[in-house]
Amino acid sequence: MAHTTKLFLTTSKFLKSCNSLHVAVRFSSSWWSHVEMGPPDPILGVTEAFKRDQNIKKINLGVGAYRDDNGKPYVLPSVRKAEEKIKIKDMDKEYSAISGNAEFCEHSINLALGDGNEIVTNKLNATVQGISGTGSLFVGAQFLSRHFPGNKEIYLPIPSWGNHNPLFRLAGLTVKTYRYYDPKTYGLDFKGVVEDISNIPEKSIILLHACAHNPTGVDPKPEQWAQLSSLIKKKNLFPFFDMAYQGFASGDLTRDAFAVRLFIKEGHEIALAQSYAKNMGLYGERVGAFSLVASSKEEAARILSQLKIMIRPMYSNPPIYGARIVNEILSNSELRKEWLRDVKGMADRIISVRTKLRDNLKRNGSIRDWSHITDQIGMFCYTGLKPNEVEKLIKDFSIYLTKDGRISMAGVTSKNVEYLAQAIHEVTK
Ligand SMILES: Cc1ncc(COP(=O)(O)O)c(C=O)c1O
Repeated sequence: MAHTTKLFLTTSKFLKSCNSLHVAVRFSSSWWSHVEMGPPDPILGVTEAFKRDQNIKKINLGVGAYRDDNGKPYVLPSVRKAEEKIKIKDMDKEYSAISGNAEFCEHSINLALGDGNEIVTNKLNATVQGISGTGSLFVGAQFLSRHFPGNKEIYLPIPSWGNHNPLFRLAGLTVKTYRYYDPKTYGLDFKGVVEDISNIPEKSIILLHACAHNPTGVDPKPEQWAQLSSLIKKKNLFPFFDMAYQGFASGDLTRDAFAVRLFIKEGHEIALAQSYAKNMGLYGERVGAFSLVASSKEEAARILSQLKIMIRPMYSNPPIYGARIVNEILSNSELRKEWLRDVKGMADRIISVRTKLRDNLKRNGSIRDWSHITDQIGMFCYTGLKPNEVEKLIKDFSIYLTKDGRISMAGVTSKNVEYLAQAIHEVTK
């Protein structure tokens, strides 16, 4: 027995040394030994830490995806119905066109600008299906990088969605910023916005979050949008709208498209990236759209041809399934109505947990002003919690969020809101 054990140990030691020798030889001849370990994604890192935590009261407020009131991922009933319809149709799996499904593209631009809008009626839009919001932004960024006649600088609000900066830089644009959020009021620094935009050099690109600004949840009011539209026109800037949350912010698609439609009404030629991740819950299907508004039908056709030339070597053509779901929902009036109810249901749940969180903070005796929780809109709330307070929430209460104090309201439920309020009060009192 002892002999067998010894033999086993010697053999495994030998195999181990062979392995490490093998690995060492492979690494010393590698092409990639200079490649450094990159930092983990800050948001996905939060989820990883959450998963490792054994506390049954743990809460993940880092995720950017909707959860139902039991904290579970949610497939919209209207989406399920659309899928049933697709199944019955027994459709083929052929390639899509380079610019994606044409019916989908038309539904998408109409969703943004409203049915019967003058842009689609006069064929002034060049619209392509994109790989959700991110891919649509990237197609737009690349197009601007190649063809924008100005100075190839894009101005982002401070702060902006964490992926904007690397995305636009990867596409070859120079990223600059303008003031947006006021940490003192937890609201919009409108004076700062106006001052900074007034100083942007003419013929630059300005990125605008169409609604439910991520990460702050702070949007300009309609009259402020009107002022921004005039200023952006006066300064001859090119507006690029990122609309990742249409319907998800207020529960009303028209209301959430206010800024985009206003800019169109005022004669801006805009770029627009849309996503169906949030408003249809189609996160993993990667379905979205990119549009440019042109000054003539003929110009739109030229733009579309160049978009296709760019897309072809990147991914050839987009996936078909998500676009089919969108088409089923938007082309069937009953299903569309049901979808609008589903979207409103999600938006209303988020709005209601905002109120519950604020009320519970008060009930716990917090004397801070938490009105920004309910003033902000959309998936996220910029709480104003300091990094040391965030650290305490994670360490002492197993409540996970990003260091900037942003919480995903989707992770808050009627069951965990009391615990969350109590914990926030403990770390802030
Ligand atoms: C502001 C903003 N733009 C774009 C996106 C892109 O999302 P997706 O690529 O999943 O559609 C997101 C997602 O969080 C976002 O918040």
